[in-house]
Amino acid sequence: MKVLICQNHAAAIERTAGLIVDHVARRPDAVLGLATGGTMLPLYERLATLYSEGEVSFANVTSFNLDEYVGIAPAHPASYHSYMKEVLFSHVDIGESRTHLPLGNSPDVQAEAERYEAAIAAAGGLSLQLLGIGQNGHIGFNEPTSSLGSRTRIKTLTESTRTANRQYFGPDETPPAYAITMGVGTILAARECLLLATGRAKAQAVAAMIEGPVSAVCPASALQLHPHATIVLDREASGDLR
Ligand code: F6R
Repeated sequence: MKVLICQNHAAAIERTAGLIVDHVARRPDAVLGLATGGTMLPLYERLATLYSEGEVSFANVTSFNLDEYVGIAPAHPASYHSYMKEVLFSHVDIGESRTHLPLGNSPDVQAEAERYEAAIAAAGGLSLQLLGIGQNGHIGFNEPTSSLGSRTRIKTLTESTRTANRQYFGPDETPPAYAITMGVGTILAARECLLLATGRAKAQAVAAMIEGPVSAVCPASALQLHPHATIVLDREASGDLR
């Protein structure tokens, strides 16, 4: 596990964007696993700028997002489909047919999860998986106690994750209770993993991920087992490391 501690938030974003640009430069047909959430917003904004400046092209890249809410249509404003379109896909040259997210409103979500896992394998597997981390140590929507060998499946979201996500739904809407998410095993099968964590609120989870025991209690700690995992932190997120 390589841990890069950056001076500040802007430097952490720049470093992570640089690592993604380098990966795509080395491998223009990269298969990128992508994450959503607040941490990724400035990163995707930076990647869009680098694209507009001619520093990177996503024309031959294929993407698979980590997760999507169950019961939410792709066109719903709080869906991860909408998020990705709004913050990245509509700003870069990736073809829509090359972008993939689980279909949260599929009539058979179990079959959809299996189809998604098979689609990743059919694309040759993920060359780089981008990750954020939840305050409880989740990656994707693999909440604490998720099996470290798990593959794409349906997960019940914890109350704390639902509370954190409430802001993205209308006052009359109930935030989804379930998501389709790549499993920890799916993530570990990526050839490279790149996790970005910023801000004081992530410090405890970051310390558990890097210095704690490898345990399903902190699913992100499974990255200790990955041969090519890079963790990019700002000073605040690194604050609880020994
Ligand atoms: C979402 C995902 C989640 C987030 C995590 C952190 O696709 O993978 O694991 O990365 O919940 O979210 P933020 O960045 O909003 O704190």
